[in-house]
Amino acid sequence: MTKKHENNWDNRYDEERFFYGREPNYLVARELPKLQKGRGLFLAEGEGRNIVFAAGLGHDVVAVDNSFVGQRKAMELAAGNSVEIEYRLDDLITGNWDSENWDFVVLCFVHMPPDVMGDVHRRVVESLNPNGTVVFCSFEKGQFGRHSGGPPQLEMLHDAKVVASQLDGLNWDYLQIVEVELRESVGHFGRGVVLEGVGVKGG
Ligand SMILES: C[S@@+](CC[C@H](N)C(=O)[O-])C[C@H]1O[C@@H](n2cnc3c(N)ncnc32)[C@H](O)[C@@H]1O
Repeated sequence: MTKKHENNWDNRYDEERFFYGREPNYLVARELPKLQKGRGLFLAEGEGRNIVFAAGLGHDVVAVDNSFVGQRKAMELAAGNSVEIEYRLDDLITGNWDSENWDFVVLCFVHMPPDVMGDVHRRVVESLNPNGTVVFCSFEKGQFGRHSGGPPQLEMLHDAKVVASQLDGLNWDYLQIVEVELRESVGHFGRGVVLEGVGVKGG
């Protein structure tokens, strides 16, 4: 990877190819069409594959990520699909994305050090409207040592019990560990161990 930018995600994204592809993640593609049209937040949205899909379904959508290359590519993807998105260049830890209320929040491969991940998760629940939904899809600890994607550090991978306790206040339709064949461009490729879930905030 060429070190052109300070932010390593910018270096990763700074090419014509989309690192995770232009198509939505499989769980996002499966779950978002079931939601009533609403205002949705996409945390750590990267190059925009999920938010652009959601905008195409008619949702009113906002992304937060601190990669300016990701933002540029997402805006281009949105324009190419003739949809409108808002993409805030901001940090998940210090940003004030939770000063608004959301009908749904998408957490798709959001992996952060444990000391800050819990705080982000708690703020997600606080910022959800009653009956608001979380769509969660990220690598589980069983992914450790595999080369199909995700951070190499065990502590950055997710554990179902920890996630459920950090996202306290949700009633889960399901929260399960699955082994899936990922075909998400070059970023996620091969069999992966994923924690996937859909949870609804109590009214
Ligand atoms: C694994 S990628 C996931 C991208 C997207 N959710 C997807 O599935 O296509 C992780 C994303 O987290 C973003 N990120 C990491 N730390 C962040 C932080 N502290 N604040 C905002 N974004 C962050 C990166 O810029 C990157 O786009």
